[in-house]
Amino acid sequence: HTYTDASDRLSGKKLIVTAGGTREALDPVRYLTNRSSGKMGYAIAAAAQGAGAEVTLISANSALPVPNHVRLIRVESANELLAAVKKAFPVADGLIMAAAVADYRPAVVANQKIKKTAANQTMTLELVRNPDILQTISTSKRPGQVVVGFAAETNDLIANAAKKIKAKKLDLIVANDVANKQIGFNADQNQVTFLFADGQQIKSPLESKAAIAERLIQLITDHFLN
Ligand code: CTP
Ligand code: CA
Repeated sequence: HTYTDASDRLSGKKLIVTAGGTREALDPVRYLTNRSSGKMGYAIAAAAQGAGAEVTLISANSALPVPNHVRLIRVESANELLAAVKKAFPVADGLIMAAAVADYRPAVVANQKIKKTAANQTMTLELVRNPDILQTISTSKRPGQVVVGFAAETNDLIANAAKKIKAKKLDLIVANDVANKQIGFNADQNQVTFLFADGQQIKSPLESKAAIAERLIQLITDHFLN
């Protein structure tokens, strides 16, 4: 006879999870980055693995311990993250983009350490746009593949998340209020609203990132991967 339990929900499914924050080099010793710790993405990778999925965790500069039985790919910049996601996505059943990707990078990366000079009391950096990874990937999405994004917002949470789900052609977006210090970037707890492409909204309680991750994996399983 056959039976299923929680650890089998996603058996045979391949999921890519991105986590951490990208670093954009300025010179050999300096970079621009953001406050992402990787906690949310690592918790999602662990939850997906616990549900039986084959998980590839693409990690941008996180120092966290790697969850057991998860395949790890380390990247630094947005361009490296894009290349790794592009490579893994064709054979995956889904992509969960929890990484905080730098929107811009320095236009020029100096080969040598940039020196300060007496004449230059101010300095202006020119930045150029990074590629949008979700927008790039969505154009190659096959039927049956699920693509999930995050929306980090300080204001107008739902309206901004709704714009992103459309612009990036997502199935689901996890809207995160990053103005609240207790939740979001670097915190251990989170409170999110799951927003579906059809407008359905599910608000989570304030709970651990592990619990949010379990909730997300359950929603993805029920709605897209059963
Ligand atoms: N994202 C991405 N590629 C980028 C920037 C963001 O794939 N170059 C992804 C993030 O991983 C996240 C989602 O897009 O899943 C939303 O990221 P967010 O920074 O909230 O939105 P942006 O589209 O960058 O818009 P803005 O920062 O201007 O609000
Ligand atoms: Ca952004």
